[in-house]
Amino acid sequence: MIRSQIIGCGAYLPETVVTNAELATRVDTSDEWIRERTGIHQRHIVKDGEKTSDLAVEASRRALRDAGVDANELDLIICATTTPDQTFPATATAIQARLGMTHGAAFDVQAVCSGFIFGMAVADNFIKTGMAKTVLLVGAETMSRLMDWNDRTTCVLFGDGAGAVVLQAHEGEGTNADRGVLNTKIYSDGRLSHLLYVDGGPSSTQTTGHLRMEGKEVFRHAVTNISASIVASAEAAGIPISEIDWFVPHQANQRILDGTARKLHIDPAKVVTTVAQHGNTSAASVPLALCTAVADGRIKRGDLVLLEAMGGGFTWGASLIRW
Ligand code: ACO
Repeated sequence: MIRSQIIGCGAYLPETVVTNAELATRVDTSDEWIRERTGIHQRHIVKDGEKTSDLAVEASRRALRDAGVDANELDLIICATTTPDQTFPATATAIQARLGMTHGAAFDVQAVCSGFIFGMAVADNFIKTGMAKTVLLVGAETMSRLMDWNDRTTCVLFGDGAGAVVLQAHEGEGTNADRGVLNTKIYSDGRLSHLLYVDGGPSSTQTTGHLRMEGKEVFRHAVTNISASIVASAEAAGIPISEIDWFVPHQANQRILDGTARKLHIDPAKVVTTVAQHGNTSAASVPLALCTAVADGRIKRGDLVLLEAMGGGFTWGASLIRW
């Protein structure tokens, strides 16, 4: 059986750091409120002119270097983003051009904060069906471009960044002892789109629009949906949740991470958290957290790692990987 193994990781954050105290000079908020309600201390924000593809290309170069793979060995680039450089072409094609990859295919996946998990499902299926051998999967966002900087209920939550992984086909036995992606579960429910959306778009307003959210409602659904996808992924692999070594969640709010861990009796020490430093970077948040825990040596070969996310749509899902 073919398994998709992650053979390299890379992350990139824009240089400019914006603290809660700095935000408090722009909107009616405070460092204390933001820390207490979200766990966020700071976020990285792009400079004028800095684009999603700029962050994605840097994260991708780092992932390729880590994997020891040349861009022309890739068959496919998938970019998960909700903040593309342009309405079209896909940001993935800008990444393809700048990495110097002159064959294969590149396209974007749009599932907002769940984009990296949806991208993982796509990449894994391309590899398992033999349509691609080596795939670059990038989650990259400039969420600061979608903010209404006068809306304190949203602008304090988000940040910019990019994370990338290189996946490659390797033979496995077809058991859950194999290294690589064991399964990915993805879900959506379009009836709930009004709880988290952008109030613009090419075919509706011909504007980019701003992010709008019913925070309390999103929070309520997040814990329920994320927990359900973790259970589904663990059950599909026949692995008890207690045997999973690392949980790498989408970083939206520390209270969502704590609530999910409590609900499923997960030891908080197994949950990788970067929300304090990065804020919510949407599709970039899972690979940014993953790269952090790989780089600092927490995630080791053979570990069971569960990635999970929930976002606008609603969309949600989980991916279980033997590292
Ligand atoms: N600073 C100070 N006060 C604020 C701020 C702020 N930045 N934002 C809201 N408030 C006020 C509100 O106006 C309200 O005041 P009121 O009582 O006078 O009306 C009060 O704080 C409480 O507001 P709530 O919305 O009830 O606060 P809550 O505890 O629900 O926290 C939050 C809000 C942080 C948005 C929370 O609901 C949340 O994190 N929801 C999840 C949303 C999320 O993470 N979305 C990201 C995308 S989806 C995902 O990634 C999972």
